[in-house]
Amino acid sequence: MNKRADFPLTEIDPDDIGHNASANPTFDSVLSARLSRRSLLRGGVGTAATALFGSVALAACGGGGDDEAAPPPVATDPPITSLAFTAVAKSLEDRVTVPAGYTATVIYALGDPLDAATPDYRNDGTDTGFDQRAGDHHDGMGYFGLGANGLRDDNASDRGLLVVNHEATSHPGSELSSTYLHADGGTPTLPRPAAEVDKEVPIHGVSVVEVKKAAGGGFATVRDSAFNRRITPLTPVQLAGAARGSALMKTAYSADGTQARGTLNNCGTGRTPWGTLLTGEENWAGYFARGAADDAARGNDKSVASLKRYGRAQGSKSRHGWESAGADDKYQRWDISRKGTSTDGTDDYRHELNTFGYLVEIDPYDKAAAIKKRTSLGRFAHESAAFSKLVEGQPIAVYMGDDSRGEYMYKFVSSATWSAADGNAADRIAQGDKYLDSGKLYAARFNADGSGDWLELTIANPLIAGFTGYAFADQADVLVNARLAADAVGATKMDRPEWCATHPTTGEVYYTLTNNSSRSATPGAGQFGVDPANPRAYSDLKGDPAQGGTTQRGNVNGHIIRLAETNGAAAAATFRWDVYLFGAQAQRDAADTSLSDADYAASVNLSSLTADQDFSSPDGLWFSRNTGLCWIQTDDGAYTDATNCMMLAGVPGSVGDGAKKTLAYGSTSVDTYVGKAPTAQTLKRFLVGPVDCEITGLCETPDGKALFVNIQHPGETISKAALANPAGYPSHWPANAGYGAGGATTARPRSATVVITKDDGGRIGS
Ligand code: FEO
Ligand code: CA
Ligand code: CA
Ligand code: CA
Repeated sequence: MNKRADFPLTEIDPDDIGHNASANPTFDSVLSARLSRRSLLRGGVGTAATALFGSVALAACGGGGDDEAAPPPVATDPPITSLAFTAVAKSLEDRVTVPAGYTATVIYALGDPLDAATPDYRNDGTDTGFDQRAGDHHDGMGYFGLGANGLRDDNASDRGLLVVNHEATSHPGSELSSTYLHADGGTPTLPRPAAEVDKEVPIHGVSVVEVKKAAGGGFATVRDSAFNRRITPLTPVQLAGAARGSALMKTAYSADGTQARGTLNNCGTGRTPWGTLLTGEENWAGYFARGAADDAARGNDKSVASLKRYGRAQGSKSRHGWESAGADDKYQRWDISRKGTSTDGTDDYRHELNTFGYLVEIDPYDKAAAIKKRTSLGRFAHESAAFSKLVEGQPIAVYMGDDSRGEYMYKFVSSATWSAADGNAADRIAQGDKYLDSGKLYAARFNADGSGDWLELTIANPLIAGFTGYAFADQADVLVNARLAADAVGATKMDRPEWCATHPTTGEVYYTLTNNSSRSATPGAGQFGVDPANPRAYSDLKGDPAQGGTTQRGNVNGHIIRLAETNGAAAAATFRWDVYLFGAQAQRDAADTSLSDADYAASVNLSSLTADQDFSSPDGLWFSRNTGLCWIQTDDGAYTDATNCMMLAGVPGSVGDGAKKTLAYGSTSVDTYVGKAPTAQTLKRFLVGPVDCEITGLCETPDGKALFVNIQHPGETISKAALANPAGYPSHWPANAGYGAGGATTARPRSATVVITKDDGGRIGS
């Protein structure tokens, strides 16, 4: 789902608005801490970095042995350290633009059939059978190689399975129906017809689709592959980990709290070292309705605090009104009000919300394998999952972000220590059981001296056990209410943590912080003060004020923060951090004649981005294992007066390669740590998407020669009334690129996967 940066833009996902009312540290307290810790400042970082990289290098070399994990595909090609392609210019065109010498080809769009029996997609709102079609809003994605024998082969670059998240569906905030899915735009008000809901539910979830390289070199999906399948909000899944069977999980669907129904709002992904996919459930809360008098119906028990913290105060309306489609259980589960008389919740869906908000593990190769929600990794608005560099005999860490204003960054550290042999085990889900069900969950605190602490979320911590904001019963309760536990321990409120990714060489962990309109130098109600890790609050002009242009405020363009664990250890309790890149616009707005527009100023453009590099609202983030390149994708609404959303390639350095920078705010100031500015060879715009899209999700073949990228929600928002004028649709992509049914100037837009190849057959980015 698109996350617009600021008012007055149309589509702020309500789940991103933020429900963190905790009193965790903001500017004043951090400033005082900084003064007392100043002696620890950068003097230590160079030394720490040297020590860190020394230790990483040692681990990689294994002290002469081979303690680096073997199973993931071995990149035999050298990393790309200088970007050779010509940067793509910012663009407002309704097309996918890639550099000269590259080709982007659409291969898998909303509605494409996943078997031979399902008809071709007509794209006119009359299609049905979405449990055998591509879903909507393609998002995070993984490539899983297939050998000629039809079995897993991590080195196969000519045949594989794409596992694609389908996050959401397009609708104006004021209308409930998914406009493009229905012939007439659907029923925008309550009650929703069952036939419409039965189409909208299964376009969410995940798809598995086989892709194969043709003799001529191009990739296409294999329509009748036996691997193809859909996983939807109705697919049976298991609850795994510490909250399995908890009293908090009991519903009319699963009286013993061990089962859940489906997965929802699947955003980022992570590829496990044993060959499965983790899919992150992000903005799931908004799909559920809660009655106006439900606090009293629940006897004002502690669930009320939990529901509020996750954005479901009583009276909350649901995003699509699915609960209104009938008495059938599959509709009623979207109403989380207490309706039954049981004391344990097994006669209604009062606990249904607790069964969403997890990383969910899927084995792409095995339709029969259980799908498992890994509750030990915490419940929040999950994005991607990044694994630490693997070291034989050491625990593994999974890094995660919670995308909402003022939410936290997390890591999970496994109890089990890594054994490379597990990477090739035949029962892949059993490896998930081993590494993901038992371990410790932490939230991040960023200190003013450039250090950071991982704060364990455990019921044994007196700050959690004695928390006045919520009475935790046990560790399952801590995990299900991870946000409240992180409040209790004083984690740092961040500017909407989106994807994270691990640098394949250094092992440092990068997180996008997409933007935060609630960040302020002088915070008021519901706002967050600037701090060292979230140091910017400024105003930015969008459009021409004379033509209705507006001023956006806060951290308008977002940034990318990175962490180096102490001694490079996945289980480290502390880390060092700096900011790899600050998003910003490089040039004055074309419409700005006021000379008052600060958005391109040096105090905002802290990474000195040029016109070939400037970006706003970083979201997707991923490192190629073949080329080592850092790919940055945007989901922006702040700089879209100048350009559609984009993807850039970067060659990052490492934590501490830049300098401390003091940002002045009136009579006070905040220090931050800015990574070394990129050069023309180390950061370049590689792709710009069509109108009103988000660029998100990417994966590649192991040889680094085919990059799969998702274009989410082109022409995102259209009202039912505007649907009657096809020529006026904001986008006609991908029909205007020659893909699928419909005219180039009249077709409804569709989310789709594109595959990018280099015309000379080389590696992407070389
Ligand atoms: Fe689905 Fe926060 O991106
Ligand atoms: Ca986003
Ligand atoms: Ca601007
Ligand atoms: Ca996203």
